[in-house]
Amino acid sequence: MSEGYSGARHGPLYDMSGLGFTPGDLVVVTGAASGIGKACALGAAKSGLAVAVWDMDAPGAQTTVNEIASNGGTALAVTVDVFDEAQVVRAWDETLALGPCPLLVNNAGPRSVSQGPFAGHLLDAVGSMECVARTWLERCSDVASSMVNISSIAGNLQGSGKTVSAFYPTAKAGIAGLTRHQATRYDGKPRVNAVAPGITITPRIEPMLAMPEMQDMVSRVPVGRLGYPEDMAHAVLFLLSPAAAYINGVLLPVDGGVTQA
Ligand SMILES: NC(=O)c1ccc[n+]([C@@H]2O[C@H](COP(=O)([O-])OP(=O)(O)OC[C@H]3O[C@@H](n4cnc5c(N)ncnc54)[C@H](O)[C@@H]3O)[C@@H](O)[C@H]2O)c1
Repeated sequence: MSEGYSGARHGPLYDMSGLGFTPGDLVVVTGAASGIGKACALGAAKSGLAVAVWDMDAPGAQTTVNEIASNGGTALAVTVDVFDEAQVVRAWDETLALGPCPLLVNNAGPRSVSQGPFAGHLLDAVGSMECVARTWLERCSDVASSMVNISSIAGNLQGSGKTVSAFYPTAKAGIAGLTRHQATRYDGKPRVNAVAPGITITPRIEPMLAMPEMQDMVSRVPVGRLGYPEDMAHAVLFLLSPAAAYINGVLLPVDGGVTQA
């Protein structure tokens, strides 16, 4: 194929309520206006959870909320830049007006190709996940049950030296370390795990799909396609759920086996 990747952009999104979620429990999903975060938000709502849709893109967050509401779910849009601690604190105030929050998906992060200061992007990527979790636990330690951080195969299972900026694999390896720290810090309340997506077809990746390098990557994935946001959402929701009650501190690659090939 010379014209670029021609696969579908989305996969099926399953109802995962059978994994033991308590209907109506609240989950915060950061970066939920688009891509993986949006799939997590839609999947969580489909599985019976109430969803706080956190994003700096206010209209995008509202679109996610409207989609959830049109399917009979409950959701609230919260406009927040998670790289800014004061905004994160305000976002928790707004969110917790809905009630206590036992579940968190820490997904938002800078683009892998972002240029500019290494240290600033590193702080944004890792520091924001630490900040969102820390300020959550300051308010909700009594109910906190499970959290999933979005890492990457980059930096943990592959080098990605030709395709992304230096801060990105450094940050994603840092998020794996942060996850292990959090998983052992709080005696499993909450359990904390990480998902490491392989290349996933989201708006930030779509402009690159026509590149020959992308075709080459597709050809190396054992299952024969790139990831869908929904593939990531299923893994996130499983780790978040009571069905994963004895899983704590893992980094789960969701990459079609590319890092094993
Ligand atoms: N797409 C991939 O191939 C891939 C692979 C590995 C890991 N990831 C990780 O998955 C996560 C989501 O990526 P995606 O591909 O779904 O991206 P995306 O661009 O489709 O969506 C990201 C969302 O996060 C929001 N966001 C970004 N910075 C924010 C901030 N400071 N505060 C609040 N919201 C913010 C954006 O507005 C957007 O709605 C990222 O952490 C990314 O590093 C993606």
